Amino acid sequence: MAHTPVLVKEAIEGLSIKSGDTVLDATVNEGGHSSLIAQYLDEKGTIIGIDEDTDALVEARRNLGASRCTIILAHDNFRNLDRVLEKHGIQTVDKALFDIGLSSRQLDESKRGFSFQKDEPLLMTFCPDLETCAFTAREIVNTWTEQSITDVIYGYGGERFAKRIAREIVKERKIKPIERTGNLVAIIERSVPHGYRFGKIHPATKTFQALRIAVNDEFSALTEGIGKALERLNKGGRIAIISFHSGEDRIVKNFFRESAKTGLCVIITKKPIVPSDEEKRRNPRSRSAHLRIAEKL
Ligand SMILES: C[S@@+](CC[C@H](N)C(=O)[O-])C[C@H]1O[C@@H](n2cnc3c(N)ncnc32)[C@H](O)[C@@H]1O
Repeated sequence: MAHTPVLVKEAIEGLSIKSGDTVLDATVNEGGHSSLIAQYLDEKGTIIGIDEDTDALVEARRNLGASRCTIILAHDNFRNLDRVLEKHGIQTVDKALFDIGLSSRQLDESKRGFSFQKDEPLLMTFCPDLETCAFTAREIVNTWTEQSITDVIYGYGGERFAKRIAREIVKERKIKPIERTGNLVAIIERSVPHGYRFGKIHPATKTFQALRIAVNDEFSALTEGIGKALERLNKGGRIAIISFHSGEDRIVKNFFRESAKTGLCVIITKKPIVPSDEEKRRNPRSRSAHLRIAEKL
């Protein structure tokens, strides 16, 4: 399924896009937000889009092809955005957008094991060459200690049955390696109390989220990415960050707060902006989105 961009109007208005702006879209994906931002830009404007998913960038190139502004697309992790900007001769930007997490297509079609609803290899990485991928979810569940697995599932996923799930993972892998998402889902389902299996969210939701965060070192990448983006923003420039996980939102909130204390920026959104009921109805995947915006001083 193609990705439906979330909080579009709120992010674009909050960024206060001007026609000649240089806009960094740190998570361009297939260009959902960027194609709408491009409508505000003229020939003097530039969008520089980064993503670590090469397939998404191919689509972005197609979707942004008819834009009036300059489009630059780069395959990289946004934690390296300084390197990307330098490579393209861009010193500073006027606006920066991060819309973190995964797109609908990545969850549904990437075959990389991001979804507990598909039976796929247990990878959870965008590393393009799987032969050289140093690190996957398969490695965590098959080689890490029970305590480390508990720490990841609890620390990144907030899963209250982390200990039980980790214990069952270690028990199972002694019989045979855990290779596929389907195996992991079955292990989780039999580790948790019966009632939890029929709760509001699928019992594998938090474990999968936690493993993905660990594999991709997502919290550190986000911290580095925000820091570098704030550094590269022009005075009066704005940064907007959409997150889908309370741990990520906390990182953004604290980073903005600390930066405001040192006089680097002013916080525009005292409270995060969340999707309207109408947006949540139209696009249920938007329901956990939180948007925070800051302006560089
Ligand atoms: C929710 S999607 C963005 C959707 C996009 N804003 C749109 O509306 O079409 C998140 C994107 O961020 C990318 N991503 C996540 N973490 C990243 C990172 N550290 N560096 C670069 N891209 C990242 C994912 O590959 C994915 O394409």
